[in-house]
Amino acid sequence: MKKIIFSLLLICITSSVWADGNIDAGKTKSALCAGCHGATGKNPSLNFPNLAGQHAQYIVKQLKAFKAGTRVDPTMQPMASTLSEQDMADVAAYFSSQSRTGEKAEAATQGAAPTSASVVKAPEFVADPVAGKALYELGDESRSLGACVGCHGKDGKSQVLIYPNLAKQHHEYIEKQLHNFKAGTRTNFVMNQFAKALTDNEIKNIGAYLADTKAVSGAKVHKATVHSAMNESAIAGQAKAAVCASCHGSDGNSLVPMYPKLAGQSANYIIKQLKEFKDGTRKNSIMAGMAAGLSAQDRIDLASYFSAQKTSKGNGKENSLGKKLYLGGDVKYGIPACAACHGVDGLGIPKAGFPAVAGQQVDYLKAQLDSFHKGERANDRNGIMRGVTRKLKDKQAAALAQYMSSL
Ligand code: HEC
Ligand code: HEC
Ligand code: HEC
Ligand code: HEC
Repeated sequence: MKKIIFSLLLICITSSVWADGNIDAGKTKSALCAGCHGATGKNPSLNFPNLAGQHAQYIVKQLKAFKAGTRVDPTMQPMASTLSEQDMADVAAYFSSQSRTGEKAEAATQGAAPTSASVVKAPEFVADPVAGKALYELGDESRSLGACVGCHGKDGKSQVLIYPNLAKQHHEYIEKQLHNFKAGTRTNFVMNQFAKALTDNEIKNIGAYLADTKAVSGAKVHKATVHSAMNESAIAGQAKAAVCASCHGSDGNSLVPMYPKLAGQSANYIIKQLKEFKDGTRKNSIMAGMAAGLSAQDRIDLASYFSAQKTSKGNGKENSLGKKLYLGGDVKYGIPACAACHGVDGLGIPKAGFPAVAGQQVDYLKAQLDSFHKGERANDRNGIMRGVTRKLKDKQAAALAQYMSSL
């Protein structure tokens, strides 16, 4: 149910319209797809992705992208171009109703799939699924690379309908997609940022992990304790930050409840805010004045400095209402889980510019939730936060502010 509500919310936000899919009709129509993807969407051939158990909306979105040519693939483009919106909804409903977890993948319809002549070559590099798991679950702070688990879910089973399931997908396919995102030949704002940060060997490690997450389920992974050394830009930023210190603290840990902490905040997020205070997209008279004189290089330097600082402990108290809403949302009020975007630990998704909320001043957090709720703060892309807070009650906002600050 939570999934449904979350997706409904996203539909409202993006105001796209989805046709209702019919599983039985989809089964009939999927005959066209069976040759490559397998009759039930499971396919032993490494060249074709598994579709079984994938989120229906994700399948529809990809089919539309292939049809429109925004996702480029010479095989799928002609396939998708023959499908109407109803066809897409039907086949998506069918494939998503199938299971990917069976022991053996089903054989593709005999002879129909074009067989690949290429034999898998012995790799010079042996992929390490445990290293892949570590990167997937923990990311890498030293490069401000967020964890994949926040969106794609534990063991690749995503709980959020817009984020595809990755579990039990062929590693070749995963790797190919990551290379496509990296090269920009497949476009998605978030995934392009993530993939760019990955090395070829890391992509292989992640592929090896996702192909069989069970194999390494017992392996414990540890966060590499890296202290992000201040780079040149951060050092320049430290000098420029002197004028910010009176309100935000010299290391970005403000001591005044109404002034937000900037320490440990996502650099991309800080840059975006400073730009928007300057051009008036985010309205605040104090910060408009502060941001007016900053150049693009100043913004980068300040953001590098503050994001490299350690956040001090917040003044909020853990509480059950806040925790419940933050981690699980509330179906009745149409509130999605905040953790999906701000992270279970409140550290946000720095690369994507999703702000950290952990340890932040309670008063500041509450003020921002109220401001999004009233629509006064309207610099959130696609109205994400205005949608999230639309039905939020004052008591819930107060509990959330306490909880986030306590993280
Ligand atoms: C001739 C083989 C072939 C046929 C037939 C085919 N596909 Fe595909 N499909 C592919 C290949 C190859 C890819 C991977 C494209 C890439 O690498 O980006 C793909 C990718 C996809 C994806 C994206 C999967 C993901 O995880 O992002 C979807 C969805 C899809 N196909 C649906 C369908 C549907 C529905 C049909 C039937 C109407 C169909 N395909 C028929 C070969 C085929
Ligand atoms: C902020 C959320 C988010 C994070 C974090 C994230 N992804 Fe994604 N990922 C997405 C979305 C959204 C898509 C679908 C893009 C599209 O619609 O084409 C996607 C697509 C993918 C795909 C293609 C799936 C398919 O079936 O074609 C792969 C592979 C992938 N992500 C791997 C990763 C890896 C590995 C990481 C961590 C290094 C990661 N993602 C982090 C949101 C995210
Ligand atoms: C006189 C006090 C004051 C000074 C000096 C000041 N700020 Fe701010 N700053 C604020 C206030 C108040 C807010 C909250 C604005 C709001 O409520 O929208 C804020 C918000 C911000 C935010 C947004 C934080 C978030 O989590 O969204 C950033 C980034 C920021 N300031 C950066 C700076 C930088 C960089 C400087 C120095 C160049 C600076 N500020 C100087 C008072 C100040
Ligand atoms: C779909 C992703 C998504 C979800 C779900 C989400 N947020 Fe956000 N949130 C964002 C983004 C993106 C921003 C930054 C907007 C901008 O660029 O100014 C943000 C900003 C915020 C801010 C302002 C941070 C600051 O430093 O000014 C707060 C507070 C916040 N969110 C709290 C929440 C709470 C509480 C929930 C759950 C009830 C939630 N968010 C759910 C994406 C999300």
